[in-house]
Amino acid sequence: MTRDYAIAEPQTSKASMDALLIQGGSKLSGRVAISGAKNAALPVMAATLLARGVHTLRNVPVLADTKTMARVLEQLGARITFADRVCTIDTTAVKSFEAPYDLVRTMRASIYVLGPLIARFGAARVSLPGGCAWGPRPVNLHIDGLDAMGARLEIEHGYIVGRDVRLRGTRFSFDVVSVGATAQLMMAATLAEGTTTLENVALEPDVTELGRVLNACGARIEGLGTRRLSIHGVKELKPIQTTIIPDRIETATFMAAAAITGSTITLEDCEPLDVAAALHKLEEAGCEILPEAKEITVTGPRRASAVNVRTAPFPGFPTDMQAQMLAVCSVADGTSIITDTIYLDRFTHVPELQRLGADIRLEQNTAIVKGVDRLQAAPVMATDIRASAALVLAALVAEGETRISRIYHLDRGYEAIDRKLAELGAKIQRVRE
Ligand code: UD1
Repeated sequence: MTRDYAIAEPQTSKASMDALLIQGGSKLSGRVAISGAKNAALPVMAATLLARGVHTLRNVPVLADTKTMARVLEQLGARITFADRVCTIDTTAVKSFEAPYDLVRTMRASIYVLGPLIARFGAARVSLPGGCAWGPRPVNLHIDGLDAMGARLEIEHGYIVGRDVRLRGTRFSFDVVSVGATAQLMMAATLAEGTTTLENVALEPDVTELGRVLNACGARIEGLGTRRLSIHGVKELKPIQTTIIPDRIETATFMAAAAITGSTITLEDCEPLDVAAALHKLEEAGCEILPEAKEITVTGPRRASAVNVRTAPFPGFPTDMQAQMLAVCSVADGTSIITDTIYLDRFTHVPELQRLGADIRLEQNTAIVKGVDRLQAAPVMATDIRASAALVLAALVAEGETRISRIYHLDRGYEAIDRKLAELGAKIQRVRE
């Protein structure tokens, strides 16, 4: 059945009121298809603003976040259809340059439209995103980088504003590795006058893929896959025709589901090379993992062993898997030490896991997790996308029925996770709160 998502659901949709009921203790088995990557789809959707015409994106995951990006683009005047995971975006009639606060605050990645708008139209008015559930998430590198290219951005009434801008090539070095700022400046530089050199860029597959997609449209980006990019500006780009790469965080989350439940499952349509760090860590925890060309079979141990984890930019262990790994470690044999070096406060899942009986002590950005023999069901609350996934994993093994409220966070980042887990044999049900 096809469904048109052109008019995406508002924040207060019925789905935002849903909760999950999970009866712990079931083994999982079977095959699960991995969806397209949220973090690859969002910048590519924004990049459509760089070229006039009809763009076609396949394998776009059906998520609250991709729908929000569709709304941001519609607001700018793009015409969008979104059915069967194919998103067509017609940017011919883009006539507004404003991304309003109401949309940006629901999804920070809306800021991705800033660079493309400035590069193609010389104007933008994009709301500052503000804080997030686990602390400050600045966008200074996005602004400083565009300014270095001559954007002369101003902050006015909570908005980042650019007027009459003509971007020109520059040399910019990131003092912290940033996925978002790398993608932002890469997009902007494709249409700037002259050559832009970016140093210390992010290597996350989502960013490298964005570069490939742009090059296929006529951009001249050199050095993809290295820490230094040279981007030679071109006059115009052709519309995008692409297929979104598999979601590596969803892949790793399902691997963690096999690990925590001691089950064997096969993940289809995924890219093993993109999940190497999580894969090796789960092997260290006792999983048997068989990666093949486009699929991975994971067998979890009877009980996982404790492991130490330190998040780092790609190819390191992703911060987006820290919460899920912490859930696995909460029932592992021994004490695990988990440090997040990317987001120092990203531990809102800890008090909720403690409600399920986990033994976790926080010391600044490090969690010391003493594995317990068993978790017990309790009502818990999701606070962000990956924290929600951690609670789902814990609930799969907790004794009794766990109720997870506020799962709209989960729906922002995981396509039909309840259906996928149910098909693998989990006792999971979505209910209205
Ligand atoms: C992206 C991902 C998010 C992931 C994160 C880190 C998307 C849509 N989101 O977010 O899921 O958790 O990468 O892998 O792809 N920083 C600054 N100034 C800036 C920008 C970032 O100081 O202007 C800092 C951040 O506070 C953080 C670090 O850089 O400590 C990395 O953040 P960044 O890679 O930019 O994260 P996002 O792109 O927002």
